[in-house]
Amino acid sequence: MRKTLQKLEQSTLEALQKATTLKELQSVYTDYFGKKGLLKEILSNLKNLSPDEKQTIGKAANELKNQLEGQFKNRQNELNQENISKSLKQEWLDLTAPGKTYEIGHIHPLSQTQEEVERIFQQMGFSIIDGPEIESEYYNFEGLNIPAHHPARDMQDTFFLDKKAHHEEGRLVLRTHTSPNQIRAMRKYGVPLRIIVPGRVFRNEATDASHEHTFDQVEGLLIDRDISLAHLKGVMTDFLSRLFKKEMKIRFRPGYFPFVEPGLELDMSCVFCNEKGCRVCKKTGWIEFMGCGMTHPHVIRSGGADPTQYQGWAFGFGLTRLVMMRYGIDDIRHLTSGDVRFLEQF
Ligand code: DAH
Repeated sequence: MRKTLQKLEQSTLEALQKATTLKELQSVYTDYFGKKGLLKEILSNLKNLSPDEKQTIGKAANELKNQLEGQFKNRQNELNQENISKSLKQEWLDLTAPGKTYEIGHIHPLSQTQEEVERIFQQMGFSIIDGPEIESEYYNFEGLNIPAHHPARDMQDTFFLDKKAHHEEGRLVLRTHTSPNQIRAMRKYGVPLRIIVPGRVFRNEATDASHEHTFDQVEGLLIDRDISLAHLKGVMTDFLSRLFKKEMKIRFRPGYFPFVEPGLELDMSCVFCNEKGCRVCKKTGWIEFMGCGMTHPHVIRSGGADPTQYQGWAFGFGLTRLVMMRYGIDDIRHLTSGDVRFLEQF
């Protein structure tokens, strides 16, 4: 019987070593330790032994059983460990490898400057408003004191749409300027009013380095009681100084726009040469910046307000031109080209 136990020990240990996967180990368990396994069989033979033998051999057999079960657990742990390190090797992660960089976009130069402009005007109490890019002839022209027969209509070559506008508002056009929103805003919010309107405008033009069919403007309108050009001068001097982060000067020259009276052109001191004269300012020391003037009574009336009680001023400048000047961009067509090589520079 002792021999049998020794053989059993040996064959079990061998079988355990031979099992190289957990599955194989499981069948070793069934063969040796299971209900019908060898170990059970031998233990059940104990009952045929004499009482003396039962005591000594039974003890030895139980010890062997415990020992072999311990061995089984060890082998099981070993194989488990091997499995884990195998899968770790497969999933190996090189923490020193350089990371993948993702291209992230950035804000278009036009939008960057637009945001700065908005922030400065907002700090001066102006609201930022938006308006439709498809306008009626009424808002784009008549309401702004530009009647159908008026020669000022020749100043802007317009994209007309094939559809009529609602009511008596004429045809639909792609807005040629942001000025229609002077009337829209007065009608919507009433007066007094302080707004700027940044937005896209469209002109039916042949394109070249300085002309584009699509570009951006910023309209401004302030309506209140007792408003004069002195307020416009103050607001614009402050605005330009904050935008260019240096003290700027402005000057007015007479100009003509049907929706203002008097109408003016506003020049700013040249940011590039401090008025000494350079290529950008064409040696004059001044750069033409925008059209402006005291709002025409016709426009105040179009907006539903009483021009004998309220007056104000309006202005309109080219955001696209401002961006070109700021960054020294020599061709307007770059700005809407969507060319990443150009855009990556900002
Ligand atoms: N709307 C004009 C244009 O497109 C610019 C302009 C001039 C706007 C004078 C104004 C203004 O509000 O008062 O050229």
